[in-house]
Amino acid sequence: MTNDFARHVAEGLSRTPKTLSSMYFYDTKGSQLFQQIMALPEYYPTRAEYGVFAAQGAALVAALSPPEATGPFSLVELGAGDGLKTKLLIKELLATGQDFSYVPVDISPSAIDGLRDSLKQEFPPLRVEPLVADYGAALAALATRSGRKAVLFLGSNIGNFDPAGRGAFLAQLAAPLAPADRLLVGFDLRKDPRRIRAAYDDAQGVTAAFNLNLLARLNRELGADFDLTHWQHYPEYDPTTGAMRSFLVSTRAQTVRIAALAQTFDFAAWETIHTENSLKFSPPQITQLAAEAGLRVAGFFTDADGDFADVVLGL
Ligand code: AVI
Repeated sequence: MTNDFARHVAEGLSRTPKTLSSMYFYDTKGSQLFQQIMALPEYYPTRAEYGVFAAQGAALVAALSPPEATGPFSLVELGAGDGLKTKLLIKELLATGQDFSYVPVDISPSAIDGLRDSLKQEFPPLRVEPLVADYGAALAALATRSGRKAVLFLGSNIGNFDPAGRGAFLAQLAAPLAPADRLLVGFDLRKDPRRIRAAYDDAQGVTAAFNLNLLARLNRELGADFDLTHWQHYPEYDPTTGAMRSFLVSTRAQTVRIAALAQTFDFAAWETIHTENSLKFSPPQITQLAAEAGLRVAGFFTDADGDFADVVLGL
């Protein structure tokens, strides 16, 4: 991981404009900050998606088990995090006597450890096969897994890809699916642009700390000397395209040395590093994205306010 990380940083900071991937937000500190973000008053997506699961759990479970589905199955979750929403689904699946194993996959070992412990406490009989892996390794594991699968990709993680990566990732998720398998994907929907922007620029500054932690991680893991007092978090939302983008902005001209790369990088005053995409979707865009990956929409569930959609996809 460190070598991949170093290579990624060398490549991203050599580009014009400079970039770093949001995939590297989630070290232990970043995962803790993301937990705090999910509880912020401004960050509506987690509550909205929880609302979908709380109100429509039974319908979701039915949509994940088509009539032709029989026997045990694997409930695989990519980017499981704290599993809060999935636990509602697990409760429903256990209550209806379904025979399944839960396979939570996350890039953060601390998130997986916490989830494994809480599942053991809350659902002692549940079969859990946790996996620490990035999306690439998770897709490989999915492709070799036999038997029926219901794959969860929640939280609008799909919004974090760049446009080309998004379609390619969905196509890779679709590739190992059989006719009785289902994919459940969470999409944050377009809404009042001010609400969207505020969700990424909270008053307490937790999202700023989350973004800036990427530079702190470079300092910790790659021996970089970023002075965080000369960097700002800057989020920007484009309501025309639904693109929510986050940047780190250099507030003065500065040179940063990264020991692990034996390299220095120059930043002009107000130069940016693009660190994250969080795309907001329209329903037709979701149908088209699915169709391009060879998938059809088998169920479309939203919260009461229409802020968030959990969409069941199948072949
Ligand atoms: C994980 N992902 C869907 C979050 C999002 O909304 O893009 C990460 C996040 N970034 C800033 N706030 C939350």
